[in-house]
Amino acid sequence: MPQPWWRSAVFYQVYVRSFADSDDDGIGDLPGITSHLEHVRDLGADAIWITPFYPSPQKDHGYDVSDYFEVNPEYGTLDDFDGLLERAHELRLKVLVDIVPNHTSDQHDWFRAAVSAPDNSFRERYHFADPKPDGAPPNNWTSSFGGPAWSPEPAGKQWYLHLFAPEQPDLNWWNPAVPKEFERILEFWLDRSADGFRIDVAAALFKRRDLEDRPFLIDPITGLPKFDSDFAIVDQPQLHDVYRRWRQIANGYEPARVLVGEIFDPRRHAKYIVPDQLHMAFALIHQRWDAGLWRRSIENSRRALQGPGAGPTWTLANHDVVRPVTRLGGGSLGRCRARAALLLLLGLPGQVFLYQGEELGLEEADMPDSARQDPIFLRTEGRLKGRDGCRVPLPWRRGRPNAGFSNANPWLPMPAGWDQFAVEAQAGAGDSTLAHFRRALAARRRLWNRLPERVDWLHTPDGVLAYARGPLVVACNFLSRPARLRLQGRLEAASEPLVAEKTGILHLPPNSAAWLLRVARPRQADGREALTSA
Ligand code: GLC
Repeated sequence: MPQPWWRSAVFYQVYVRSFADSDDDGIGDLPGITSHLEHVRDLGADAIWITPFYPSPQKDHGYDVSDYFEVNPEYGTLDDFDGLLERAHELRLKVLVDIVPNHTSDQHDWFRAAVSAPDNSFRERYHFADPKPDGAPPNNWTSSFGGPAWSPEPAGKQWYLHLFAPEQPDLNWWNPAVPKEFERILEFWLDRSADGFRIDVAAALFKRRDLEDRPFLIDPITGLPKFDSDFAIVDQPQLHDVYRRWRQIANGYEPARVLVGEIFDPRRHAKYIVPDQLHMAFALIHQRWDAGLWRRSIENSRRALQGPGAGPTWTLANHDVVRPVTRLGGGSLGRCRARAALLLLLGLPGQVFLYQGEELGLEEADMPDSARQDPIFLRTEGRLKGRDGCRVPLPWRRGRPNAGFSNANPWLPMPAGWDQFAVEAQAGAGDSTLAHFRRALAARRRLWNRLPERVDWLHTPDGVLAYARGPLVVACNFLSRPARLRLQGRLEAASEPLVAEKTGILHLPPNSAAWLLRVARPRQADGREALTSA
């Protein structure tokens, strides 16, 4: 049976505010995306995921939606959305829309109605509760952005729940009007030809019904109190019925549409990634640069999803985490490691999500505190820097104002010299990060049909990982010194400029990876033979 298009696909995440600005207001927009889609096609991706572009007061940069059926005027119009889809489909790129079902904006009509009167029926669509007798919040849950998960309503006596910012009140999924509305929202975008959804905070929609305090435990090691992590606030079983219904809706289109859940913990994946619910969830590899930790993390994600219908969705970056180049050591060291990490993950069975700018080797950008806009920074009074550093607009052209992103100052400032990473500057340079990404994605596409699902880890010295997938051998040197490995069989380089000799000795520079093709099988192939320190 042919595989559905999304199996093994490479997705490219577009952060709409920072991708490309078509009208010179310093803010990215939908026409900007449309006119730069060739970049994604040339990179070799199969699909894009666009972060929320709905009307929003931008308290969490689009993840606070005030109207799910419109486009934020800053980003364009519904016609611009249709134009984007049309162009993407011409280029054979699929498009995923970001759906935000856990919370609305406090400026959404529903919430405005809810707080307009103590007996307004829309209150049942959110979580309102009385404070404790001493005036404390209704329970001790905390917001992911810092502080309590409850705020007092503006006028009135009750408090409302928000697992994120106070401007993002959580919806009450126990109220049937809420699931019903989201089915309408899904159909609205699918009818406009969207190819699927990335579902924001996908495991959280239903909150435990009793809204009980989260118990404290005494940590046996430190002796300090800590929250009981087994006390489930979210992940309620009723959510699975919602996703079964969403899957039916997705399957009602031809070809079937795709559902990607924002769920990172591999222990949760098996519950949601099943044939009648979601197709994918993220396997985010964020460990420090250590061969053992990476192998364990890869194996945890692989073990979580076994079977022919699903595989891990490898991810190194998104708009919420420090950029991998910076995480992995910064500068040219971080860039080398990020390139190696890409090769290591791209060879594995499963899907891959890239985040805009990863292909340019962008680092986390620094900026003055006065420029920071992330609610995490604002709500923690600067204790946490927040996520602005990975959201700085993309550099497109060298020597142009604002690196060709916009003629106006961008909404987040670019560091000096940002244009050296511009797409245009890297496109023609064979040793650039962009060229590396293009080569690697092209090699993956070329080889993919020949590769079995099965992965055999090879015996390697400490600090080096290698696996075989049929004829493909992927080796990655995590060490800061070169590694020499002996590999049996006749070899050819599959991606990078040649690093393997036909002699079977593989020279891996520090912090690098290679893809090799075995053109002849080794004499004995038991997975133990292949690599030894030479
Ligand atoms: C998700 C988004 C993040 C947002 C949060 C609340 O984790 O990726 O950017 O702040 O949900 O919607």
